[in-house]
Amino acid sequence: MSTVMITGANRGLGLEFVRQYLKEGWHVLALCRDPQKATVLRQLGKEGSLLQVYALDVADFAAIDRLAAELDGETIDVLINNAGVSGPRATDGGPSGQTFGHTNYEAWSEAFKINSQAPFKMAEAFIQQIEASEHKIIATITSKMGSIGDATTGSTIYRSSKTAVNMAMTTLAKQLAGSGVKVALLHPGWVRTDMGGPQALIGVEESVAGMRKLIASITPAESGKFVDYAGTAIPW
Ligand SMILES: NC(=O)c1ccc[n+]([C@@H]2O[C@H](COP(=O)([O-])OP(=O)(O)OC[C@H]3O[C@@H](n4cnc5c(N)ncnc54)[C@H](OP(=O)(O)O)[C@@H]3O)[C@@H](O)[C@H]2O)c1
Repeated sequence: MSTVMITGANRGLGLEFVRQYLKEGWHVLALCRDPQKATVLRQLGKEGSLLQVYALDVADFAAIDRLAAELDGETIDVLINNAGVSGPRATDGGPSGQTFGHTNYEAWSEAFKINSQAPFKMAEAFIQQIEASEHKIIATITSKMGSIGDATTGSTIYRSSKTAVNMAMTTLAKQLAGSGVKVALLHPGWVRTDMGGPQALIGVEESVAGMRKLIASITPAESGKFVDYAGTAIPW
């Protein structure tokens, strides 16, 4: 049986990854900040025994190490670094903290830790379990908003944190080339979640189905490439 580990699994894209992998008969290790509050996620577990839920705040690197030690001997075919934050947003029509002149540097550091560093830390902590598996895939959910070639104005905090994770994962793909581990860098599309908002273009079902297909078929030559959920290459 194949095993997938998913961060930020309690809502949005993460929860849909859990749903779809469970439906396909995978063993799912679902990580979220507060399992007690993750009622929809825990409900999925009641339908079968293939779901295991663990508490993990990905900004707590000591907790990542503790979980990796707890799961010593497990094999993880696919690690999905999904957890992410958008950074400050304007709620009252005023400047958001990502507006030049009003930049919230504390929020920038937090977003950098969660969006850029945590995926790399997860890979580092769980590499033995991934290398011991059959599929050996690390997938990170990034964003087209991290593309420098595609950049417009605003959302500096979010954009730069995704640009950074793109570079981190590209170097990781090169580092792991030859080990059999492949690294997928996936833009999910503009998706209707809490982050994407109700006006977004696609639903979680379509986005996750597309990304799962790409994860399942990734080749060593495709490792480290930046593509969207339909497999279209995105400029760096
Ligand atoms: N939706 C889009 O249009 C879109 C587009 C491009 C990229 N993305 C990327 O897709 C990924 C998932 O986004 P989404 O749309 O599903 O967002 P979402 O609905 O806002 O969900 C974000 C998830 O990340 C978790 N999370 C945030 N900080 C965390 C932390 N420190 N530790 C553990 N979990 C944490 C949240 O957990 P809590 O419930 O505990 O907060 C939640 O489960 C993100 O990486 C995002 O940047 C989304």
